[in-house]
Amino acid sequence: MSESSPAVPKLFQPTLVGKYVLSHRVVQSPVTRFRADDEHVPKDLMATYYAQRGSVPGTLLITEGTMISPAGGGMDNLPGIWSNKQVEAWKRVTNAVHKQGSRIFIQIFALGRGAVPEVLDAQGFDYVAPSAIKLSDGDKTPRSLTTKEIKEYVDAYTNAAVNGIRAGFDGVEIHAANGYLIDQFLQDVSNKRMDEYGGSIANRCRFALEVVESVTKAIGAHRTAVRLSPWNDTKDMRMADAKPTFAYLVSQLVDRYSDLAYIHVIEPRVSSYMPREVQPGEDNDFLREIWRPRPFISAGGHTRETAFESAEHDGDLVAFGRLFIANPDLPVRIAKNLPLTKGNRETYYTQGPEGYIDYPFAETGFPSIQ
Ligand SMILES: Cc1cc2nc3c(=O)[nH]c(=O)nc-3n(C[C@H](O)[C@H](O)[C@H](O)COP(=O)(O)O)c2cc1C
Repeated sequence: MSESSPAVPKLFQPTLVGKYVLSHRVVQSPVTRFRADDEHVPKDLMATYYAQRGSVPGTLLITEGTMISPAGGGMDNLPGIWSNKQVEAWKRVTNAVHKQGSRIFIQIFALGRGAVPEVLDAQGFDYVAPSAIKLSDGDKTPRSLTTKEIKEYVDAYTNAAVNGIRAGFDGVEIHAANGYLIDQFLQDVSNKRMDEYGGSIANRCRFALEVVESVTKAIGAHRTAVRLSPWNDTKDMRMADAKPTFAYLVSQLVDRYSDLAYIHVIEPRVSSYMPREVQPGEDNDFLREIWRPRPFISAGGHTRETAFESAEHDGDLVAFGRLFIANPDLPVRIAKNLPLTKGNRETYYTQGPEGYIDYPFAETGFPSIQ
């Protein structure tokens, strides 16, 4: 069967991301698992975990959110990518994935007011955000970042991206979703600044675009990607009128960095990973229209059926979070319609191998899916 035969569904046709040819469009979504050590250095079992999920050659994996700097953290046992020790540990992960013939991007983030203030306190760092607005379920009010600190954050994202490439990653996904620092700048619910980083749409998008500018300059646009969540309402996000802001941001990306590796957008039917009811007018087609024909990854609540449909009709790549946790061979299972294992939430955030590298493969070996 030739690759372009209509008998092969688009989901299982090869596609290009940056300069890499993927053998199919089933992508591992970034999922935090807290398996790094107390110095935020990836543990060896992370190499096993990612190698398992890259077992179908030509799969694109995206790592869990990885701290750009100590001050940008605020959760224990997240991995980081600022120190040489971390870079060396991540090399084991990237080597293991490349041995499988797959590709891996590192997702980099700073938490802003999404941090746990006590964790920052204990390490002598301030709890910060674009504006001093307390989360509705939080007990501390973050301090508003100074302009100088904002520039330092841009440098920290860039340093993390450069370290990511040194560690052997194929690219870097800038996490601008789910209510973390960049998203907090984008949206008017969390950004009440009166300076050049707040107010107008262009000002609220300035930080995100400065990060993208600096990162692409350092590692190349084809190795840079951005994740967005216009509809997520966790962490007090979900601005009332999201479309103009996100349309502006993605238009700027098209104009300035047309060969960015991909954009990765979360569908309105989930908030973080909890189901949410889609409200009238909420969809990501406005972004697809601006971004097409460039690589667009759709994430959030996908099933086997929606994945085929999304690839076929919208040309999307499709990222899976929870299903990839529990099905290390997910692309094979989707291709062959094999039963899917349900993941155990109790072990999402524990620190051992249980519920991490012990989910079974449906078949022995990894048969060709073409
Ligand atoms: C345990 C867990 C941890 C997650 N951590 C991250 C993360 O580090 N970065 C991120 O962008 N999204 C994170 N997400 C969200 C997923 O990438 C994805 O968008 C979400 O789970 C919805 O997709 P799904 O329905 O396929 O699970 C996480 C989800 C889960 C279940």
